[in-house]
Amino acid sequence: MPQLKALFCAAALGLSLTAFAADGQFLADRHVSKGVKCESCHKAGPKEAPKKADCLACHGGTYAKLAEKTDNLEVNPHDSHQGEIECSKCHKGHKPAVLECARCHDFSKELHIR
Ligand code: HEC
Ligand code: HEC
Ligand code: HEC
Ligand code: HEC
Repeated sequence: MPQLKALFCAAALGLSLTAFAADGQFLADRHVSKGVKCESCHKAGPKEAPKKADCLACHGGTYAKLAEKTDNLEVNPHDSHQGEIECSKCHKGHKPAVLECARCHDFSKELHIR
């Protein structure tokens, strides 16, 4: 069923699905398997990475609210001197996530993004 839904999404966005199989590997696949549609993330259209407002619509509403959820971590990835950076700098949709902070810090013990 998730696969079928994904197929409808891809058709609606006019895209080939081949690179986006719902195998649960990446963030988008995990969302699709929970019933989130392509368009719910891709509000600005399929060619662009979703904007943070589009993600926050389902994740707390504001960065501050989101940050409360990860305040228990040793380093809060959502509350730093980097400010309110785009979610997709770290949470990639269809490829492995990247910890943007790692350009300058080694948080490999503190943070485990996937
Ligand atoms: C339509 C609502 C919706 C939108 C839009 C949405 N999410 Fe989610 N997100 C969910 C749901 C539902 C879950 C699963 C929650 C659970 O399992 O308790 C989830 C889980 C997550 C998780 C934790 C679990 C995992 O699979 O990693 C992360 C991280 C996440 N979302 C990031 C994002 C980002 C980044 C965006 C924007 C690119 C986004 N979400 C857009 C609904 C949404
Ligand atoms: C600097 C990188 C980075 C950015 C930017 C970022 N996140 Fe995260 N996010 C993380 C990391 C790292 C984790 C997992 C922390 C852990 O468990 O080690 C996480 C976890 C989450 C979770 C799961 C929280 C939970 O309750 O366990 C959600 C949902 C989420 N992020 C959504 C977002 C959304 C929405 C945005 C944009 C508004 C965003 N993130 C921006 C790094 C980032
Ligand atoms: C959780 C939110 C989320 C969902 C659901 C989602 N995507 Fe994405 N998508 C992203 C993000 C974030 C990017 C930015 C590029 C990346 O990180 O892979 C992206 C990028 C893309 C791109 C551009 C690829 C590139 O070259 O950057 C395409 C095409 C795309 N998505 C199609 C889809 C289709 C089709 C679906 C439904 C099967 C879907 N997306 C579902 C978050 C999502
Ligand atoms: C361009 C480089 C750069 C990036 C990217 C970056 N930082 Fe930093 N960060 C620094 C510098 C420089 C300091 C100050 C170091 C000092 O005073 O010891 C610092 C200090 C910190 C501190 C306080 C001092 C410490 O080491 O405990 C935290 C916490 C922190 N950064 C978290 C983050 C997080 C979370 C991210 C990703 C969202 C991030 N940083 C991204 C350069 C960066």
